[in-house]
Amino acid sequence: MTHRIGSIIFKALVPALITGLALCGCKTKEEDGTAASEGLVTVGFSQIGAESDWRIASSDSMQTSLSTTYGYNLIYDDGQQKQENQLLAMREFIDQSVDYIILDPITETGWDATLREAYDEGIPVIIIDRRVDTLDDSVYTVWAGSDFLLEGRRACRWLKEYLEHISFDDDVNIIHISGTTGSSAQIGRTKALKSAAKKFGWNILMSEDGDFVQAKGREIMEKALEEYGDKINVVYCENDSEAIGAIEAIEQSGRRVGSDIKSGEIMILSFDATRQGLLLTLNGKISVNTECNPEYGPVCVDIIGKLKNASRVEHEIYMEESQFSAIEDITEVEIDGEIYPVTMVDRELIDSRNY
Ligand code: AHR
Repeated sequence: MTHRIGSIIFKALVPALITGLALCGCKTKEEDGTAASEGLVTVGFSQIGAESDWRIASSDSMQTSLSTTYGYNLIYDDGQQKQENQLLAMREFIDQSVDYIILDPITETGWDATLREAYDEGIPVIIIDRRVDTLDDSVYTVWAGSDFLLEGRRACRWLKEYLEHISFDDDVNIIHISGTTGSSAQIGRTKALKSAAKKFGWNILMSEDGDFVQAKGREIMEKALEEYGDKINVVYCENDSEAIGAIEAIEQSGRRVGSDIKSGEIMILSFDATRQGLLLTLNGKISVNTECNPEYGPVCVDIIGKLKNASRVEHEIYMEESQFSAIEDITEVEIDGEIYPVTMVDRELIDSRNY
């Protein structure tokens, strides 16, 4: 709610500010061009919200890189997990004739009309992190984000390798705590799990939307434990926040979290690899953590720099991502003939993590 309140307060203050300026004899931007944002590149950024540590890290990265120190006037809008808020923010950015719009779309669909408006106004739009599903891709300038399907395939391949390594021949019974329904991160990671489950004969006992939030991860896991109890041996969480919630629920129930599923431990698979997630990976509570890179600030600075210089910019840019575990037996996974290393997590790596 904060940003809407902020925006209302801002709107209410504008006439007062203008009156104040007139009274003190100060000039507005239109009168002499000396406003604070003069000479700065104005960027409107519509962020999804603050549902996870990953999201907060992504906002921090943008706010640090696109700060006035580096020549930017960043207008940050927190969408509070609602597409309607993001659409409203985009319209405000268009009305303000910002130089660039950056959008991290909560879900893939529903953006066509607003993106078309920005396009018609000649405002370049950079989509980050998740994708948009549009009739015409030319309504946005660049998409920079993650290959969420690949992330999911890496996680599932790791599980397959691990089960073979320990010669696990019981049923693999999975609780799937998914991310926000309709978001690219959910679509890709869920698709990977469903197709691996089908291919390898794993059972998905339950699949529920945890919205990438810790409290929902916990709630879903509590429900799953009540319904399926000892049957559960694997939990596929679509981000670290959900994994933290699931671990809390499992430990509260008296069950143990870990990779020794032959002895009744419940194995957690997670995504993001935030500092907190990596700590849980180091102490064995998350067996494998597939990275999702939130550092979009420098990427956007690079894109805007190129656009300003009319240099060539790819229409699609993929973020570099790793995979982490403390289980030394699986050092790599192979997908479609491509080898992806699994990095062993250690204290030094965690200490070097910004988020
Ligand atoms: O779109 C990226 C996902 O969104 C991250 O995995 C999750 O933590 C975030 O909220």
